[in-house]
Amino acid sequence: MGVNIKLDSSRHVKHVDRKQLYVDLEARINYLHGFLDFNSSDVEALASGSKYIKALIPAVVNIVYKKLLESDITARAFHTRNTTDETPLDEYFHEESPQIQRRKMFLRWYLVKICSDPTQMDFWRYLDKVGMMHCGRGRMNALNIEYMHLGACLGFIQDIFTEALMSHPRLSLQRKVSLIRAIGKIIWIQNDLFAKGFVRDGEEFADEMPDITAEKEGYLGDKRILGESSQSGNSSEDDHSSSGSAQSKPSGCPFSGIPQTGVETKIWAD
Ligand code: HEM
Repeated sequence: MGVNIKLDSSRHVKHVDRKQLYVDLEARINYLHGFLDFNSSDVEALASGSKYIKALIPAVVNIVYKKLLESDITARAFHTRNTTDETPLDEYFHEESPQIQRRKMFLRWYLVKICSDPTQMDFWRYLDKVGMMHCGRGRMNALNIEYMHLGACLGFIQDIFTEALMSHPRLSLQRKVSLIRAIGKIIWIQNDLFAKGFVRDGEEFADEMPDITAEKEGYLGDKRILGESSQSGNSSEDDHSSSGSAQSKPSGCPFSGIPQTGVETKIWAD
């Protein structure tokens, strides 16, 4: 006795061309937007909330570099550009080393970039470039950062944003939720753009995959894409004024559990 399954012929199933997902970045981004439901509410949340994200950036960058310099497996990459190279080093860069200061500047600019306009394809092209760069492409002097460090680092960044935004003293819950969702979707798309450089999916289309040319840091083709603007947010237009309610009490530093080393990791002003 077979099971009788009734098919609904009126249901529309969207066609997605598999090959396009590998050979056409725009098709891949559109597909991810559709799947994650990255929509005009996310664009709006980012546009109106970017000042809160920007206010977090200096502390986020310090916390991320503190983490990356904590273990030799990641700290070494800033000397060797390669996490597979386990040659012991006598000395490692520290948070104040000029080389790390420069890397911090690029991470700051990158985070400012993710607060810009995601309706522009250049926004996603840059995220793709950053992804490809870490797996050996798009740099004269190739980088080889294994995927597990990239995935872990993105998860770490997402967690910092979530905690810090949730602990904002005056933003309404609704705006916190919209902003955290929008940032989360962007981070997961960045994750895909890191992962696709490592996985073998779609390798039968390798000959037709777009090439990433070696470019200067912060550039997309001839266009300077990073470092154009950066400023911290200000809470003058927050959803609640700072007097009165329990919610409005200045929250403690969301990163107070993290050992301080004299490098500023405090976020919201008291
Ligand atoms: C997962 C989050 C990460 C993001 C968003 C990120 C972002 C960036 C950006 C924006 C740049 C400069 C790109 C440009 O040319 O415009 C860069 C370069 C670099 N990143 Fe990352 N990165 C991440 C993770 C890591 C990790 C985990 C390591 C090492 C363990 C690492 C090591 C490096 C190094 C060594 C460079 C220098 C590249 C060069 O000198 O050409 N990154 N990264």
